[in-house]
This record gives sequence, structure tokens and C-alpha cells, in this order.
Amino acid sequence: MGVAELHRDPRAWQRRLSAARDGGRRIVLVPTMGYLHEGHLSLLREARRRAGAEGLAVASIFVNPAQFGPQEDLARYPRDLEGDLATCAAAGIDAVLAPERPEQVYPPEHETWIEVERTSRGLCGAKRPGHFRGVATVVAKLFNLTRPHAAVFGEKDWQQLQVIRAMVRDLDFDVEVVGMPIVREPDGLALSSRNAYLGPDERRRALALSRVLAATKERVRGGERDAGRLAADAVAELTRAGARVDYVEIVHATRLSRLAEVESGSRMLVAAWLGATRLIDNAALP
Ligand code: PAJ
Repeated sequence: MGVAELHRDPRAWQRRLSAARDGGRRIVLVPTMGYLHEGHLSLLREARRRAGAEGLAVASIFVNPAQFGPQEDLARYPRDLEGDLATCAAAGIDAVLAPERPEQVYPPEHETWIEVERTSRGLCGAKRPGHFRGVATVVAKLFNLTRPHAAVFGEKDWQQLQVIRAMVRDLDFDVEVVGMPIVREPDGLALSSRNAYLGPDERRRALALSRVLAATKERVRGGERDAGRLAADAVAELTRAGARVDYVEIVHATRLSRLAEVESGSRMLVAAWLGATRLIDNAALP
């Protein structure tokens, strides 16, 4: 197992990656906020695979303050740079950008923000004002700092993936956006850095998210098409399990518009609180 080259300075990173690209190397980027788990690992491995033996598979680790609301968990977001570098090395990642201070990414004079209007409007965008503006802006900056040919994201953050696809389309970024399936614990819980916040009881209750998604899929297979009824039943089940529901919606998978009837290309998206921890999950409906 090799080691991944660690860069703390975004400017030095930009020079290094630009030279590599100009030298003809294919670059594949995985943006992350660190505290890497098996979900991230599948993205890192995919980046390695897509970069090929001659290309550069790279990752960024940056807890982006711009995507956290004032009452959110920025200060306590879990961190483990040493462990993350080992995970990157194990996945064959060549280089990692991990700025030490937010001001390296957002100097005091920073004043430009990217707003992906329609796709950011509902769901997490409605519950977390400014969140996707922060995500889109940092991802655009990471694209400009890295100049990747492709970038790999997880379907776990389904709305985020659609926001990034819309931004790439609308601002003519020459980057292929790759989406990867959700990696789950054996019992169904979607892996998330925020699972580290859960106490044992909350961890048990958190299973309700993946359980309602599976139950909804099963009912759709059985012929139920009424999205309102399916969503209301999912809310009831989550509440029964002790989760505080933020939203349950059945939407068109890419437009994210709410649907009255389940149709092909429908997706169910769920967000719920277990104590002080907010979790999200989603699944395609058959
Ligand atoms: P973070 O939450 O660290 O996630 C980094 C990437 O890993 C995202 O693309 C996310 O969808 C993916 N991911 C997380 N859990 C996953 C799982 N269980 N299965 C598959 N993929 C999973 O998402 C962010 O960071 C940030 O918003 C970022 C894009 C880096 C911008 O700051």
C-alpha cells in the first residue's frame, strides 16, 4: 500500500494538478468532508478505476463551513485526517487536498456564490437554507482548483448530486459527474459520517429510514401508486419508531418535482432526526 501525497495549500495543489493535466494525465476527483467510511471508499475506488494506471485519482477533505447553517454541526463535525489518509492510500488515491484552515479556501474578500435555483428549492434545500449554495460554490472551486476530467459523488446525497449535475450543465463545466450507489450497513442503515453521533438507542431507531424505503418499494411492487398515501404511511412509521420527520417525499428522480402518483423514474427521499442527529436516505421506486 502506497501513501497519498498530502497537500494543505490549495494554490500549490492547483499548480500540481494543472501541470499533471497539461502533461496529458487523466484526473478523477472525489470531493469529501472526511471521516471517511465504506461509502466514501467505494467512490475512491471508482475514481482509481476511472483514472486508470496512468491517471491521477485524487480526493479532497474539507469540512466546508459555507454549507452549514448557523445552528448546525460544523463545530462538532467528526474529523480524522490520519485515518482518512490511510483510507485514501488503501484505495490507491494518489493525492489529497486537505486545507488546514477555512480561510485558505474562503479568504476574507470572498464574495461570489453559486445558486442552483430550481433543484435546490425543496427537500433539504427548504430545510437547510443556503446549504446547496455552499455545496455548489465549494464544488465549483474544487473543480477549478483540480481541473478533473471526472468527479465521483454518492447517491446517498441524491439532491446534492442533482444540484451538481445542474451546475455542471448550466455553467458549462467540462467535468463528467459520476454517481455511485448508496453503501449500507448489513442491517440497511446508509453509511454516513454523522452516524458517529448516534447513541445505541438512536442507532436502532435510525433503521426506520431504510426500513420505510424498503417497505414503500414493496408496496409499489404490490400495485400501490398513490404517492400521498405512501408518504403519509412512511411518516407514521418513522414517527412510531421515534424519529422526528423532516420530510418524506416521492419525487421525479432528476427534476425533484413532487409526484401524486408513482411513475417510472420516481424516487423516495427521507430526512429525519434521531435526537440531535439529522439523517437522510433515499431509494428508487420500482
Ligand atoms: P461527504 O458527506 O463527506 O460525502 C462525500 C461523498 O460521499 C458525497 O458524494 C456523498 O454522497 C458520498 N457518500 C456519503 N455517504 C455515502 C454512502 N453511504 N454511500 C455512497 N456514497 C456516500 O457530500 C459531501 O461530503 C459534501 O457536501 C461535498 C460534496 C464534499 C461538498 O462539501
